[in-house]
Amino acid sequence: MSVWAVANQKGGVGKTTTTVTMAGLLAQRGQQTLMIDLDPHGSLTTYFGHDPDNIETSVYSLFQNDGGENYEDALCLSTRVENLYLMPASTAMATLDRQLGAREGMGLILARAIQRLAGRFEHVFIDCPPVLGVLMVNALAASDRLLIPVQTEFLALKGLERMLRTLSMILRARKKPLRYTIVPTMFDRRTRASLESLKNLRERHPDEMWRSVIPVDTLFREASRQGVPLNLLNPHARGAIAYANLLDKLLDSANSEIPAAVHS
Ligand SMILES: Nc1ncnc2c1ncn2[C@@H]1O[C@H](COP(=O)(O)OP(=O)(O)OP(=O)(O)O)[C@@H](O)[C@H]1O
Ligand SMILES: [Mg+2]
Repeated sequence: MSVWAVANQKGGVGKTTTTVTMAGLLAQRGQQTLMIDLDPHGSLTTYFGHDPDNIETSVYSLFQNDGGENYEDALCLSTRVENLYLMPASTAMATLDRQLGAREGMGLILARAIQRLAGRFEHVFIDCPPVLGVLMVNALAASDRLLIPVQTEFLALKGLERMLRTLSMILRARKKPLRYTIVPTMFDRRTRASLESLKNLRERHPDEMWRSVIPVDTLFREASRQGVPLNLLNPHARGAIAYANLLDKLLDSANSEIPAAVHS
Protein backbone atom coordinates (compact mmCIF):
# COMPACT_ATOMS: atom_id res chain seq x y z
CA MET A 1 0.00 0.00 0.00
CA SER A 2 1.24 3.48 -0.75
CA VAL A 3 0.08 6.49 1.22
CA TRP A 4 0.21 9.94 -0.33
CA ALA A 5 -0.46 13.18 1.50
CA VAL A 6 -1.47 16.28 -0.45
CA ALA A 7 -0.66 19.41 1.52
CA ASN A 8 0.04 23.12 1.38
CA GLN A 9 -0.75 25.66 4.07
CA LYS A 10 -1.94 28.01 1.41
CA GLY A 11 -5.64 27.72 0.61
CA GLY A 12 -7.13 27.22 -2.84
CA VAL A 13 -3.99 25.89 -4.56
CA GLY A 14 -5.53 22.64 -5.85
CA LYS A 15 -5.05 20.16 -2.98
CA THR A 16 -8.55 18.70 -3.18
CA THR A 17 -8.51 18.67 -6.98
CA THR A 18 -5.16 16.85 -6.93
CA THR A 19 -6.48 14.29 -4.43
CA VAL A 20 -9.67 13.61 -6.40
CA THR A 21 -8.01 13.37 -9.79
CA MET A 22 -5.02 11.25 -8.78
CA ALA A 23 -7.24 8.89 -6.77
CA GLY A 24 -9.80 8.83 -9.60
CA LEU A 25 -7.12 7.84 -12.10
CA LEU A 26 -5.89 4.98 -9.93
CA ALA A 27 -9.47 3.76 -9.37
CA GLN A 28 -10.09 3.88 -13.11
CA ARG A 29 -7.00 1.73 -13.57
CA GLY A 30 -8.59 -0.86 -11.31
CA GLN A 31 -6.71 -0.10 -8.09
CA GLN A 32 -8.54 -0.05 -4.79
CA THR A 33 -8.09 3.54 -3.69
CA LEU A 34 -9.11 5.41 -0.57
CA MET A 35 -9.33 9.19 -0.21
CA ILE A 36 -9.23 10.59 3.32
CA ASP A 37 -10.69 14.03 3.93
CA LEU A 38 -8.61 15.59 6.68
CA ASP A 39 -9.92 19.10 6.17
CA PRO A 40 -12.69 20.16 8.59
CA HIS A 41 -14.15 22.26 5.78
CA GLY A 42 -14.89 18.99 4.07
CA SER A 43 -14.60 20.07 0.42
CA LEU A 44 -13.65 16.54 -0.60
CA THR A 45 -16.58 15.14 1.38
CA THR A 46 -18.96 17.61 -0.26
CA TYR A 47 -17.50 16.77 -3.67
CA PHE A 48 -18.77 13.22 -3.26
CA GLY A 49 -22.21 14.23 -2.07
CA HIS A 50 -21.97 14.12 1.74
CA ASP A 51 -22.59 16.96 4.14
CA PRO A 52 -19.70 17.50 6.58
CA ASP A 53 -22.08 19.43 8.88
CA ASN A 54 -24.38 16.46 9.28
CA ILE A 55 -22.29 13.35 9.03
CA GLU A 56 -22.43 10.80 11.81
CA THR A 57 -19.19 8.92 11.37
CA SER A 58 -16.06 10.48 9.96
CA VAL A 59 -12.34 10.91 10.54
CA TYR A 60 -13.42 12.64 13.73
CA SER A 61 -14.58 9.27 15.10
CA LEU A 62 -11.03 7.92 14.82
CA PHE A 63 -9.89 10.56 17.29
CA GLN A 64 -12.72 9.94 19.72
CA ASN A 65 -11.57 6.49 20.64
CA ASP A 66 -15.11 5.22 20.52
CA GLY A 67 -14.75 2.93 17.60
CA GLY A 68 -13.47 -0.37 18.82
CA GLU A 69 -11.84 -2.98 16.63
CA ASN A 70 -11.61 -2.39 12.91
CA TYR A 71 -13.77 0.64 13.25
CA GLU A 72 -11.98 2.38 10.39
CA ASP A 73 -13.37 -0.20 7.96
CA ALA A 74 -16.87 1.16 8.44
CA LEU A 75 -15.63 4.71 7.85
CA CYS A 76 -14.64 3.99 4.24
CA LEU A 77 -17.69 4.86 2.15
CA SER A 78 -18.08 3.72 -1.42
CA THR A 79 -18.52 6.40 -4.08
CA ARG A 80 -20.22 6.38 -7.47
CA VAL A 81 -16.85 5.47 -8.91
CA GLU A 82 -15.83 1.84 -8.91
CA ASN A 83 -12.78 1.10 -6.70
CA LEU A 84 -12.88 4.57 -5.16
CA TYR A 85 -13.67 5.06 -1.47
CA LEU A 86 -13.92 8.05 0.84
CA MET A 87 -13.29 8.47 4.54
CA PRO A 88 -15.27 11.67 5.07
CA ALA A 89 -14.61 14.74 7.21
CA SER A 90 -16.96 16.40 9.63
CA THR A 91 -16.85 20.02 10.70
CA ALA A 92 -16.37 18.82 14.29
CA MET A 93 -12.77 18.06 13.33
CA ALA A 94 -12.06 21.78 13.67
CA THR A 95 -12.21 21.30 17.45
CA LEU A 96 -9.57 18.57 17.56
CA ASP A 97 -6.63 20.90 18.06
CA ARG A 98 -8.21 22.40 21.13
CA GLN A 99 -9.25 19.01 22.47
CA LEU A 100 -6.10 17.04 21.82
CA GLY A 101 -3.40 19.50 20.86
CA ALA A 102 -0.96 18.74 23.60
CA ARG A 103 -1.98 15.20 24.46
CA GLU A 104 0.68 12.55 23.94
CA GLY A 105 0.37 9.96 21.21
CA MET A 106 -2.22 11.84 19.16
CA GLY A 107 0.08 12.18 16.16
CA LEU A 108 -0.12 8.53 15.13
CA ILE A 109 -3.86 7.90 15.20
CA LEU A 110 -4.29 8.17 11.45
CA ALA A 111 -1.14 6.19 10.67
CA ARG A 112 -2.39 3.29 12.78
CA ALA A 113 -5.86 3.36 11.24
CA ILE A 114 -4.36 3.34 7.74
CA GLN A 115 -2.07 0.45 8.62
CA ARG A 116 -5.09 -1.59 9.64
CA LEU A 117 -6.58 -0.92 6.18
CA ALA A 118 -3.52 -2.19 4.35
CA GLY A 119 -5.20 -5.38 3.13
CA ARG A 120 -8.05 -3.46 1.60
CA PHE A 121 -6.48 -0.61 -0.35
CA GLU A 122 -3.55 -0.28 -2.70
CA HIS A 123 -3.42 3.51 -2.51
CA VAL A 124 -4.47 6.06 0.07
CA PHE A 125 -4.63 9.81 -0.62
CA ILE A 126 -4.91 12.24 2.28
CA ASP A 127 -6.35 15.67 1.51
CA CYS A 128 -4.88 17.98 4.16
CA PRO A 129 -6.33 21.15 5.67
CA PRO A 130 -4.43 24.38 4.94
CA VAL A 131 -3.40 24.75 8.59
CA LEU A 132 -0.65 23.37 10.73
CA GLY A 133 -2.18 21.36 13.54
CA VAL A 134 -2.82 17.90 14.87
CA LEU A 135 -4.45 16.79 11.59
CA MET A 136 -1.52 17.85 9.42
CA VAL A 137 0.88 16.20 11.87
CA ASN A 138 -1.12 12.99 11.55
CA ALA A 139 -1.11 13.16 7.77
CA LEU A 140 2.64 13.60 7.54
CA ALA A 141 3.27 10.80 10.02
CA ALA A 142 1.04 8.45 8.03
CA SER A 143 2.36 9.06 4.53
CA ASP A 144 5.19 7.69 2.39
CA ARG A 145 5.05 10.46 -0.12
CA LEU A 146 3.97 14.09 -0.17
CA LEU A 147 2.58 16.16 -3.01
CA ILE A 148 2.68 19.94 -2.61
CA PRO A 149 0.44 21.67 -5.14
CA VAL A 150 1.56 25.24 -5.75
CA GLN A 151 -0.57 27.65 -7.72
CA THR A 152 1.50 29.37 -10.39
CA GLU A 153 0.83 32.97 -9.42
CA PHE A 154 2.75 35.87 -7.90
CA LEU A 155 3.87 35.02 -4.34
CA ALA A 156 3.73 31.28 -5.07
CA LEU A 157 7.25 30.92 -3.77
CA LYS A 158 6.46 32.64 -0.51
CA GLY A 159 3.64 30.23 0.33
CA LEU A 160 5.81 27.29 -0.62
CA GLU A 161 8.71 28.36 1.60
CA ARG A 162 6.31 28.60 4.50
CA MET A 163 5.03 25.11 3.82
CA LEU A 164 8.57 23.73 3.61
CA ARG A 165 9.49 25.31 6.94
CA THR A 166 6.44 23.73 8.55
CA LEU A 167 7.35 20.45 6.97
CA SER A 168 10.85 20.30 8.32
CA MET A 169 9.54 21.24 11.75
CA ILE A 170 6.97 18.45 11.77
CA LEU A 171 9.34 15.94 10.26
CA ARG A 172 11.77 16.29 13.12
CA ALA A 173 9.58 13.81 14.97
CA ARG A 174 9.56 11.37 12.08
CA LYS A 175 12.13 8.62 11.86
CA LYS A 176 12.41 8.34 8.09
CA PRO A 177 12.65 11.11 5.49
CA LEU A 178 9.58 12.04 3.47
CA ARG A 179 9.96 12.44 -0.28
CA TYR A 180 8.04 15.34 -1.66
CA THR A 181 7.14 16.60 -5.10
CA ILE A 182 6.07 20.15 -5.88
CA VAL A 183 3.24 20.25 -8.41
CA PRO A 184 2.70 23.56 -10.22
CA THR A 185 -1.06 24.01 -10.67
CA MET A 186 -3.51 26.25 -12.55
CA PHE A 187 -0.82 27.13 -15.03
CA ASP A 188 -1.92 29.57 -17.73
CA ARG A 189 0.83 30.17 -20.25
CA ARG A 190 -0.83 33.37 -21.45
CA THR A 191 -0.21 35.12 -18.15
CA ARG A 192 3.02 36.65 -16.96
CA ALA A 193 2.22 35.57 -13.38
CA SER A 194 2.16 31.91 -14.38
CA LEU A 195 5.31 32.10 -16.49
CA GLU A 196 7.33 34.04 -13.95
CA SER A 197 6.29 32.03 -10.95
CA LEU A 198 7.08 28.78 -12.74
CA LYS A 199 10.51 30.08 -13.63
CA ASN A 200 11.15 31.13 -10.02
CA LEU A 201 9.95 27.83 -8.63
CA ARG A 202 12.19 25.90 -11.00
CA GLU A 203 15.21 28.00 -10.17
CA ARG A 204 14.67 27.67 -6.48
CA HIS A 205 13.63 24.01 -6.31
CA PRO A 206 15.10 22.32 -9.37
CA ASP A 207 15.15 18.82 -7.90
CA GLU A 208 11.84 18.70 -6.12
CA MET A 209 9.70 20.12 -8.90
CA TRP A 210 7.67 17.97 -11.23
CA ARG A 211 8.98 19.04 -14.63
CA SER A 212 5.58 19.60 -16.23
CA VAL A 213 2.51 21.55 -15.04
CA ILE A 214 -1.20 21.15 -14.37
CA PRO A 215 -2.88 23.65 -16.70
CA VAL A 216 -5.94 25.75 -15.97
CA ASP A 217 -8.91 23.72 -17.11
CA THR A 218 -12.46 24.91 -16.53
CA LEU A 219 -13.67 21.31 -16.70
CA PHE A 220 -12.37 20.75 -13.15
CA ARG A 221 -15.24 22.89 -11.92
CA GLU A 222 -17.72 20.96 -14.00
CA ALA A 223 -16.36 17.65 -12.69
CA SER A 224 -16.77 18.86 -9.11
CA ARG A 225 -20.31 19.99 -9.87
CA GLN A 226 -21.08 16.49 -11.09
CA GLY A 227 -19.24 14.85 -8.19
CA VAL A 228 -16.87 12.75 -10.30
CA PRO A 229 -13.12 12.92 -10.91
CA LEU A 230 -12.30 14.79 -14.13
CA ASN A 231 -10.77 11.70 -15.76
CA LEU A 232 -14.18 10.01 -15.55
CA LEU A 233 -16.05 13.01 -16.87
CA ASN A 234 -13.64 13.39 -19.76
CA PRO A 235 -10.39 11.43 -19.92
CA HIS A 236 -9.23 13.65 -22.80
CA ALA A 237 -9.57 16.89 -20.87
CA ARG A 238 -6.16 18.52 -20.68
CA GLY A 239 -6.32 18.66 -16.90
CA ALA A 240 -7.01 14.92 -16.73
CA ILE A 241 -4.16 14.18 -19.13
CA ALA A 242 -1.77 16.31 -17.09
CA TYR A 243 -2.63 14.50 -13.85
CA ALA A 244 -2.27 11.14 -15.63
CA ASN A 245 1.24 12.19 -16.69
CA LEU A 246 2.05 13.21 -13.13
CA LEU A 247 0.79 9.91 -11.80
CA ASP A 248 2.82 7.91 -14.33
CA LYS A 249 5.91 9.88 -13.50
CA LEU A 250 5.49 9.36 -9.77
CA LEU A 251 4.74 5.67 -10.07
CA ASP A 252 7.72 5.19 -12.36
CA SER A 253 10.05 7.18 -10.24
CA ALA A 254 8.88 5.63 -7.01
CA ASN A 255 12.51 4.91 -6.31
CA SER A 256 14.71 7.18 -8.32
CA GLU A 257 13.81 10.15 -10.51
CA ILE A 258 12.69 12.61 -7.86
CA PRO A 259 15.26 12.14 -5.15
CA ALA A 260 14.19 15.00 -2.94
CA ALA A 261 13.90 14.28 0.73
CA VAL A 262 13.42 16.33 3.84
CA HIS A 263 15.51 15.21 6.73
CA SER A 264 15.03 16.23 10.28
N1 LIG B 1 -6.03 23.21 -12.79
C1 LIG B 1 -7.14 23.87 -12.47
N2 LIG B 1 -7.79 24.62 -13.41
C2 LIG B 1 -8.90 25.31 -13.10
N3 LIG B 1 -9.48 25.31 -11.89
C3 LIG B 1 -8.89 24.58 -10.92
C4 LIG B 1 -7.70 23.83 -11.15
N4 LIG B 1 -7.35 23.22 -9.99
C5 LIG B 1 -8.28 23.57 -9.09
N5 LIG B 1 -9.20 24.38 -9.63
C6 LIG B 1 -10.36 25.02 -8.97
O1 LIG B 1 -9.84 25.92 -8.00
C7 LIG B 1 -10.60 25.89 -6.81
C8 LIG B 1 -9.68 25.52 -5.63
O2 LIG B 1 -9.17 24.22 -5.85
P1 LIG B 1 -9.10 23.14 -4.67
O3 LIG B 1 -10.39 23.11 -3.92
O4 LIG B 1 -8.61 21.89 -5.26
O5 LIG B 1 -7.97 23.81 -3.77
P2 LIG B 1 -7.56 23.47 -2.25
O6 LIG B 1 -6.10 23.73 -2.16
O7 LIG B 1 -8.05 22.12 -1.88
O8 LIG B 1 -8.37 24.58 -1.45
P3 LIG B 1 -8.59 24.64 0.17
O9 LIG B 1 -7.32 25.14 0.73
O10 LIG B 1 -9.71 25.61 0.30
O11 LIG B 1 -8.93 23.26 0.62
C9 LIG B 1 -11.71 24.87 -7.07
O12 LIG B 1 -12.86 25.57 -7.48
C10 LIG B 1 -11.19 24.01 -8.20
O13 LIG B 1 -12.23 23.49 -9.03
MG1 LIG C 1 -9.23 21.50 -0.26
